[in-house]
Amino acid sequence: MSDPTQPREKWSGRTGFILAAAGSAIGLGNIWKFPYVVGENGGGAFVLVYLICVAIIGAPVMLCEFALGRRTLRSPVGAFRALATKTSILVHLIGIGVLIAGIFALLFRCWGWGALLLALGLLIFRHGWVLVGFSGVIAGFTILSFYSVVAGWTLGYIWKAAAGQLNFPTVTDAQAHFANFILSPGWALGCHFLFMLMCILIVYKGVQSGIERWSKILMPVLFFIIFALIVRNLTLPGAMEGVRFYLTPDFSKITTGSILIALGQAFFSLSLGMGVMITYGSYLDRRESLVTSTRSVGGLDTLIALMAGLAIFPAVFAQGFSPDVGPGLVFQVLPTVFNQIPLGAFWAFLFFILLLIAALTSGISLLEVVTAYFVDERRWPRRRATIVFGAAIFLLGSLCALSVTDWSRLQALHALLLKVFATAKPSFFDTMDNLSSNWLLPLGGLFISLFTGWVWGTRHALDEIRQGAPSFGNVHLVSLLAGLKDLPPSNGGPPPYTLAAFWGIFIRFISPVAIMLAFLHTIGWLT
Ligand code: PHE
Repeated sequence: MSDPTQPREKWSGRTGFILAAAGSAIGLGNIWKFPYVVGENGGGAFVLVYLICVAIIGAPVMLCEFALGRRTLRSPVGAFRALATKTSILVHLIGIGVLIAGIFALLFRCWGWGALLLALGLLIFRHGWVLVGFSGVIAGFTILSFYSVVAGWTLGYIWKAAAGQLNFPTVTDAQAHFANFILSPGWALGCHFLFMLMCILIVYKGVQSGIERWSKILMPVLFFIIFALIVRNLTLPGAMEGVRFYLTPDFSKITTGSILIALGQAFFSLSLGMGVMITYGSYLDRRESLVTSTRSVGGLDTLIALMAGLAIFPAVFAQGFSPDVGPGLVFQVLPTVFNQIPLGAFWAFLFFILLLIAALTSGISLLEVVTAYFVDERRWPRRRATIVFGAAIFLLGSLCALSVTDWSRLQALHALLLKVFATAKPSFFDTMDNLSSNWLLPLGGLFISLFTGWVWGTRHALDEIRQGAPSFGNVHLVSLLAGLKDLPPSNGGPPPYTLAAFWGIFIRFISPVAIMLAFLHTIGWLT
């Protein structure tokens, strides 16, 4: 419980909230990841699938998160604790399943996994749904630990661009430079430290004078820079090749796999599944519409992802580079591209500032989830929580920074993990990325929709959503599509196919099944 003598913090209004939530959503996922995932999965056709995933799975789940936060006025742990009052059969079934899996693991002498699953099973019995809230806090730690390392690279590249050091004649030179840079402990740790320091300083100041104030300054700058980059790159000779590649659908490249990748990307990009939107929703006034907010945040996030492609591919094609090089696209190919255009160092500088702003407003939302838990549930003063856990995340992230590509600097930890779990990812960085992106976020999203749909109940959630959006449950979807939105029902009864009814069906059935399939696919059980 938070200190009752201190009123809970709030956004000053809708704009601040939307910019902060959009700031969380718009991040490295949009500018660094989305373009190369599109590049690898067939351009325009993939973009289309992605849009559908955002609209029919992402947006309904975001609405749930906002409603959970605003109803309870708590961050995720407190929100689940407040609403999960009855014992839930579903939780017991899951708990039993996990315990049985643990016993099997022990029978097969997988001691590490056995112990882990048994402990998890017991935690499920003890904490029930509240565990979903805890997994959000843990995801805050794990995501920020590797996110901050990548964000640190952008800081380093801003410095290098300003110093005129990004003058690579070929991509091979850029690759060598990048490898050297990320493996140099001084640079990697120093930049990671600086980025965490920026996050701490902002979150330390609180909701209104920290997060909201900086989102209001940084987000317009982000829009301006990305716009300037698009105009610059579209006017390069040969740029249209890139636009064509980016926007021409090639449906032959769409497989079940790429649909599931699109869904995972939508979740990560919209910051769903770990309670950022629960926490941010908990600072929102009851008079504001959650429906409009969801539309704005989802729309802005998608717009920036699409614009990022337009800011990158035309330049890549204009200079004759290949678009499907994966994660190295922005740190290796782009500097080489910029090196060949007039005033290249300036454009490179601007691009990495863009990336830094995007990362910063997402980083603060991750730190805020951790901070809000200790403020709401443990009664810590905000400042103490921010500094202590910011420092803890810095330490965890230092392990990521030291082990980005392999375990050579963390051999003892590698040996320990191998001994306990019999397998390990290629690096500590990958371990943290895998744990959060492939496990914590999808499972979080799955349980958030199951909880809203079946435990808290769509009916109660709808009550909350209607505060500030009274007509959400009344809008007849078919009439809406037909342009007859305001037509009163002729027989006076409630219209059957309302937006709210569709939302309920998606939350109860479609989202859980889709997320489950995506989850099984990413962990390799479904091919
Ligand atoms: N949405 C952010 C991005 O696109 C990442 C993020 C994920 C932030 C989950 C918060 C929570 O980069």
